[in-house]
Amino acid sequence: MNRENFGTRLGAILAAAGSAVGLGNVWRFPIETGQNGGAVFIIIYILCIIFLGMPVMISEFLIGRYTHSNTAGAYRILSKGGQWHWLGKIGVYTGWFILCYYAVVGGWTLHYTYLSLINAFDDVKAAEFSNIFNDFVGNPWIPLLWFYLFMLFTHYVITRGVQSGIERASKILMPTLFIIVIFLAVSAVMLPGASAGVEFLLSPDWSKVDSKTVIEAMGQAFFSLSLGMGCLCTYASYFDESTPLAKTAVHVSVIDTMIAILAGFIIFPSVFNIGMNPNDVGVGASLTFISLPNVFQQALGEGSLMSVIFSSLFYFLLFVAALTSAISLHEVATAYVTEEFGMTRSKGAMLVTVVVLVFGSLCSLSFGPLSNITILNRNIFSVFDDLSGMILLPLGVMFISLFAGWRLDKELYREEISNHGDLPTPYFRLLIFSLRFLIPIAISLVFLDQLGLFKAIFK
Ligand code: PHE
Repeated sequence: MNRENFGTRLGAILAAAGSAVGLGNVWRFPIETGQNGGAVFIIIYILCIIFLGMPVMISEFLIGRYTHSNTAGAYRILSKGGQWHWLGKIGVYTGWFILCYYAVVGGWTLHYTYLSLINAFDDVKAAEFSNIFNDFVGNPWIPLLWFYLFMLFTHYVITRGVQSGIERASKILMPTLFIIVIFLAVSAVMLPGASAGVEFLLSPDWSKVDSKTVIEAMGQAFFSLSLGMGCLCTYASYFDESTPLAKTAVHVSVIDTMIAILAGFIIFPSVFNIGMNPNDVGVGASLTFISLPNVFQQALGEGSLMSVIFSSLFYFLLFVAALTSAISLHEVATAYVTEEFGMTRSKGAMLVTVVVLVFGSLCSLSFGPLSNITILNRNIFSVFDDLSGMILLPLGVMFISLFAGWRLDKELYREEISNHGDLPTPYFRLLIFSLRFLIPIAISLVFLDQLGLFKAIFK
């Protein structure tokens, strides 16, 4: 079959980094850092990236590039008739599943970019921001329209193909994202009182570090690097043979971590500038769509030009970050349906989009008309979110590392990461050790923690 590759190495790196840099970098990492001991958390996080995240990333790259196939095909080829082929299929459906709710939030970022641009937050009292958000997501139509628009962008890029779609979009969007992040971080750090924010983010505080910290750092590292499903494997199937896998993994991890830290430099100086307690800002959607619009207004002057610029750029940044991640999620499913069911790319992409529109609409409506449908006390959106974040992705990472560590032929592994002997691989044994033991044990701890084991022991 005629398969496209990425045209340049930079394109490959930016595409993978685009997948990694997403909402997680902005709405989780900074607040987790601040509340878990600042610099100490960052160090633990970086150790998790190096010893747990990178081995899985390199393995996913290897599996994709070696087989040059969609994720389901890749695992089928490598499992040689064994049961591991399921892992690829599960990876594909996990990505498809995540996209359904992730793109809904993508729509929210568009709506908030629009609200910022029309200066809609001028004169809004602090307490009213939560009403604005709740009214918006509870509305049956408006969030749906933004979600459809977000999917239209995603769909468009995917239908253009690997080089003129994904690669080109990454080459435009990622540099845009870097510029906005730097501009916002520099502006925020220059605010009066900003140093307290930087201190909150960076000053090491060992007293806040416990087993929970390590577990949070680990979960965040896996999610943020887009590990445990088909994204990186699919993108790597478009790498050419000379792409250095380990080096690319380093580049992607460094970019992802830098953006996450810089996001903290955008958020906390502003929070401290207005004298708000960082423990009250919330996390995730409530941080992003309730606390921050207020923080930006107050820190930069209500209704002022600077607050319009700052806030619009911030939500646009979130939009770009979410879009490049959504594109990677979409591509996992599109590559799967086109290659496994022999569809054309445009038909395959259409099928993927339609399914996402249907399930995504349910997620979106679950804050309004469908809010009475709940499973285990969660609305539909949270079911999608929690099922993927707490179960599918960690399990995915665990099984991929077991597969790569125990099932893949070691000689093949070494051949591939050394590009057939061209590159030195001094880290090889550590990598295999990590895949075989460290990662499976670490993830088992995450699960035990979710079941409340540690709370029971350490209380
Ligand atoms: N890494 C993305 C983020 O930080 C999320 C993501 C997870 C994207 C898994 C693709 C696959 O937001």
